[in-house]
Amino acid sequence: MVDLVQEMEGFCRLLLLLSLVVFAQSTCNSTDHELVSKAFSSVSNFNISWLRLRPGDLNCSNPPIKELNLSSRNLGGSISWKYLRNMSQLHTLDLSGNSLTGSIPGWFWSIQNLTVVNLSRNRFGGTIDFQHTSGNGPSSSVQVLDLSSNRFTNLVKLSGFSSLTVLDVSRNDLTSLPSGFSNLTKLQHLDISSCKISDNIKPISSLHYLKYLDVSNNSMNGIFPSDFPPLGALKFLNISMNRFTGFVGHDKYQKFGKSAFIHGGSLIFNNSKAHASSNHTLQPHSTPPHKIVQKHKPKSKSRTKALVLGLSCGSAFVFLSAAAFVFCIYRRKKALARKNKWAISKPIQQLHFKMEKSGPFSFETESGTSWVADLKEPTSAPVVMCSKPLMNLTFKDLIAATSHFGKESLLAEGRCGPVYRAVLPGELDVAIKVLENAKDVDHDDAVTMFDELSRLKHPNLLPLSGYCIAGKEKLVLYEFMGNGDLHRWLHELPTGEPNVEDWSGDTWEQHGSHLSSPEKTNWVTRHRIAVGVARGLAYLHHVGSTHGHLVASNILLAEDFEPKIADFGLQKWGSENIDATCHNDGNTPESDVYCFGVVLVELLTGKQGTEECVKWARQLVREGSGVNALDFRLKLGGGDSVSQMVESLRVGYLCTAESPGKRPNMQQVLGLLKDIRS
Ligand SMILES: *[C@@H]1O[C@H](CO)[C@@H](O)[C@H](O)[C@H]1NC(C)=O
Ligand SMILES: *[C@@H]1O[C@H](CO)[C@@H](O)[C@H](O)[C@H]1NC(C)=O
Ligand SMILES: *[C@@H]1O[C@H](CO)[C@@H](O)[C@H](O)[C@H]1NC(C)=O
Ligand SMILES: *[C@@H]1O[C@H](CO)[C@@H](O)[C@H](O)[C@H]1NC(C)=O
Ligand SMILES: *[C@@H]1O[C@H](CO)[C@@H](O)[C@H](O)[C@H]1NC(C)=O
Ligand SMILES: *[C@@H]1O[C@H](CO)[C@@H](O)[C@H](O)[C@H]1NC(C)=O
Ligand SMILES: *[C@@H]1O[C@H](CO)[C@@H](O)[C@H](O)[C@H]1NC(C)=O
Ligand SMILES: *[C@@H]1O[C@H](CO)[C@@H](O)[C@H](O)[C@H]1NC(C)=O
Ligand SMILES: *[C@@H]1O[C@H](CO)[C@@H](O)[C@H](O)[C@H]1NC(C)=O
Ligand SMILES: *[C@@H]1O[C@H](CO)[C@@H](O)[C@H](O)[C@H]1NC(C)=O
Ligand SMILES: *[C@@H]1O[C@H](CO)[C@@H](O)[C@H](O)[C@H]1NC(C)=O
Ligand SMILES: *[C@@H]1O[C@H](CO)[C@@H](O)[C@H](O)[C@H]1NC(C)=O
Repeated sequence: MVDLVQEMEGFCRLLLLLSLVVFAQSTCNSTDHELVSKAFSSVSNFNISWLRLRPGDLNCSNPPIKELNLSSRNLGGSISWKYLRNMSQLHTLDLSGNSLTGSIPGWFWSIQNLTVVNLSRNRFGGTIDFQHTSGNGPSSSVQVLDLSSNRFTNLVKLSGFSSLTVLDVSRNDLTSLPSGFSNLTKLQHLDISSCKISDNIKPISSLHYLKYLDVSNNSMNGIFPSDFPPLGALKFLNISMNRFTGFVGHDKYQKFGKSAFIHGGSLIFNNSKAHASSNHTLQPHSTPPHKIVQKHKPKSKSRTKALVLGLSCGSAFVFLSAAAFVFCIYRRKKALARKNKWAISKPIQQLHFKMEKSGPFSFETESGTSWVADLKEPTSAPVVMCSKPLMNLTFKDLIAATSHFGKESLLAEGRCGPVYRAVLPGELDVAIKVLENAKDVDHDDAVTMFDELSRLKHPNLLPLSGYCIAGKEKLVLYEFMGNGDLHRWLHELPTGEPNVEDWSGDTWEQHGSHLSSPEKTNWVTRHRIAVGVARGLAYLHHVGSTHGHLVASNILLAEDFEPKIADFGLQKWGSENIDATCHNDGNTPESDVYCFGVVLVELLTGKQGTEECVKWARQLVREGSGVNALDFRLKLGGGDSVSQMVESLRVGYLCTAESPGKRPNMQQVLGLLKDIRS
């Protein structure tokens, strides 16, 4: 037996040696033809004679191959890519229209001088990943890359493909957008259609030289056109079959055609009805015979989604401003002084106000910047009050109600523009926001948007009450929220420092501010706020929208402490306002749930919703001692309700799960919270 084994071993060794000799003899390592022949050795139907190589000519005299075109040759099986590595002159590789399988090694993309790669219509799979040879090594020289109609499941990073001018990855199973679009500074043609991608389109917006963009047949979200690359240079666009929101102006519709927008999401098209109504105050009977090009009727769902477009940082500042106002009041020790300050905006004062005869009207803000309403006659710009169409207000009334947009009426000022407070005729208490970033938004686009926004009604969402377009300036009006925002209410209003232990309604009264009412220490109120916010958010999700940056300062409190969520969608008209954002990136329902969880933790612990605070509270819940995380002010008055608080904190724990997939949805959260106090 042993002999036999030894004999076998010896035989094997001999075989191995022999094969090595054969291999060496037939190896002509400098010939690209030979390399190709090896690379395709296990590919069915491959015939080396296609390369015009005489069979048997292995003397290494053939010139290097620059172009390898094996398009539609009925090839099958997989390529031994490693042999292509040494084809230093390979410029073009076209293997399209075959049935080739396997995955592409990462180093392949770094072959020097490789410029055109067409692998479309095959059965390649796996990941496309460009591996840098060194840390920040050279980028791929590939300029034209067609991977369409394959089975690739992953396209990780594009940053290494900085020479790309054409990228077609359509009809693969990518499911998510790759990173690194910002490095593709030369890209002109991008096709990512039919890839089952459900991400936000925003990362693509950095592609400034695109002429061709096809994102159709995914389920991508985002706002048209603000989340898209500049459309001016685009010659072809297809956003069909996605979940976009936004307004498609007539020009874009004409330019890209009807079939660019088929089932694109909740898109609103140039609509002559909205157009006419916008001017109804001026010319009630002038309904021009506009062609109605609306093909996707904005039902309530699309209107809701459209809301997302408009309430950008605009409303954030309304909130900040409302909060600032509350804070101002609190700071003001004398009730009299307080009255005086705001009395300025009472309608009575209008009578004493001198109106300039003719515009343009320039208004200076506290910081010294100014904004200009380029109008001759201030009565020519109507204020459209959404719920009171017969009010007949004009820009002139706003000027009067704000003392010529004077500094006394200024509630807040930020990068997105100033916010004023005014009491309009009919005792309408409003915050007026100047959307400084919307100057270039087309008049009709703005009108359509505002009309749609104003139609979104939910008790826990802050609605747009009106708007005014004065020249290029767009002003929006919101109901003024007397109790400010949740952040101030929880963290900045007096907490009864003088005698915390002995709080009572009377004590608070004595401190002289109704704003620091016992409500704050009242579990019923906090629970009500939590449920209200959950309800508003669940509604947003129900209509297919998301909030994107829910934080306590974006939750306003009405007089009766009913919470109103504001600042839906961050993108439109001033996305730079990211001061207030919860520590969770992304704009998905799951990230909203996380942010809600943070707010809930804040409501229950009375601590600011920092990452540390959430970690700390989660730790305590995990250890079963959530009760120790509760706001002592709540616990003191809580009595039997402490168990409800602990249970609610547990809901906050669920919402802030690390893995988005483990978080409940808002509908479930709402159910849980309601059950806790039913
Ligand atoms: C080709 O292979 C031989 C050994 O078989 C080696 O000596 C030679 O350097 C190789 N030539 C190239 C260009 O790699
Ligand atoms: C390869 O192509 C040549 C010429 O086109 C042909 O004569 C030969 O039979 C082919 N070989 C195979 C294996 O198909
Ligand atoms: C090698 O190639 C050269 C040029 O193509 C040719 O002249 C020569 O005869 C070839 N040698 C052999 C042994 O085939
Ligand atoms: C490859 O050959 C086909 C025709 O056989 C041609 O249509 C195609 O353009 C070629 N590919 C490249 C990259 O030149
Ligand atoms: C590529 O060439 C290098 C030498 O330049 C050689 O060491 C290596 O074996 C070659 N690879 C293949 C797959 O032929
Ligand atoms: C790449 O192409 C350039 C000319 O286009 C040539 O000078 C260079 O040698 C090529 N690089 C390689 C590795 O062949
Ligand atoms: C790749 O090849 C296919 C033909 O199989 C062709 O239709 C397509 O245009 C090519 N892609 C590029 C980018 O040239
Ligand atoms: C991609 O761009 C970023 C900055 O935009 C830069 O830091 C990085 O080095 C680039 N990567 C490559 C591979 O060019
Ligand atoms: C849309 O994509 C799916 C795969 O994601 C594909 O099966 C279907 O044919 C595509 N539809 C169109 C109209 O391209
Ligand atoms: C809507 O269409 C009409 C003509 O059909 C056009 O005059 C108007 O400017 C368009 N509005 C927008 C916002 O594109
Ligand atoms: C856009 O894509 C959709 C769905 O794939 C398709 O039906 C439509 O014809 C395309 N439009 C254009 C302009 O290519
Ligand atoms: C509507 O009003 C705006 C400005 O007030 C004006 O530019 C536009 O032409 C008007 N449209 C119609 C149809 O009257």
